[in-house]
Amino acid sequence: MKVLVATEKAFAPVAVNQIRLVTEAAGYGLALLQNYKDSSDLIKAVSDVDALIVRSDLVTAEVINAAKKLKIVVRAGAGYDNIDLAACTAHNVVAMNTPGQNASAVAELAFALMLYQARGGFNGKSGTELRRKSFGIHAFGYVGKHVAEIARGFGMDVYTFDPFVVEKDIKKYGVKVCITTEELYSKCQYISLHMPLNEKTKRSIGYDLLRKMPKNAVLVNTARKELIDEEALIKIFEERSDFRYLADVAPDCISIFEEKYKGRFLFTANKMGANTEEANLYACLASARQIVDFFKTGNDKFKVNK
Ligand code: 3PG
Repeated sequence: MKVLVATEKAFAPVAVNQIRLVTEAAGYGLALLQNYKDSSDLIKAVSDVDALIVRSDLVTAEVINAAKKLKIVVRAGAGYDNIDLAACTAHNVVAMNTPGQNASAVAELAFALMLYQARGGFNGKSGTELRRKSFGIHAFGYVGKHVAEIARGFGMDVYTFDPFVVEKDIKKYGVKVCITTEELYSKCQYISLHMPLNEKTKRSIGYDLLRKMPKNAVLVNTARKELIDEEALIKIFEERSDFRYLADVAPDCISIFEEKYKGRFLFTANKMGANTEEANLYACLASARQIVDFFKTGNDKFKVNK
């Protein structure tokens, strides 16, 4: 059995070592393709592997086609919008994710962005505090729950909207429930996005929602850039000089931001949300264990394709 770890953005060495320990203990071979630059490198590397571990790397139909022996691909992370699930299913490849394993790292980044912005990038002038500000968590999954705990620690007034989570599971975090997205966006000066990217959520954050946000609005996006209707965001930025956008992945229209809205946005260099040693370690360990368990017992608990 051969496992390939293919990452354009490499995991911390301590995390790769955990994959090595788990796969070696199972008697499997391990190959590494780290910091590769082109999808052709991935296409070459998958030709003889039985299992594949990736991050946000694009696992396209072309990759799946080239991986003649592949039986399982694990996205070491939460969002699997980078994997062509239909191609996996068509080739009898099981696709899995490792939900929750990197959630606290992503939640911490949301607050790093908010604090940096609230203090004006530590520019020596008076900034603002997070305490007592209204904070809306759009989707209350693993990351949303970590975000709630941190926000409560900061003394924020915390709300969420998530139609898939029952009220009592939200209230035990000391978070108030909103019945609609409109209610959440109207109430909250800060909004943090934590939903997956899919056909329903793509470009779902648009003008009608954003315009409802109170004065000095801050939209925080450590999820996916495609959730945002970028034309709507630009329209809001034109209309409201009090609006800020903080994101882990820069929008496609970054040049407009750089040209016109200096000081009102913050974009990380290279999708930093899950980039901690701990998050890498947990996600890698879970990936390796899920692969071994799948081959040894058939356990497909974290399967995401039909
Ligand atoms: C996820 O979906 O788990 C995060 O977006 C992390 O992505 P990354 O592994 O590419 O940093």
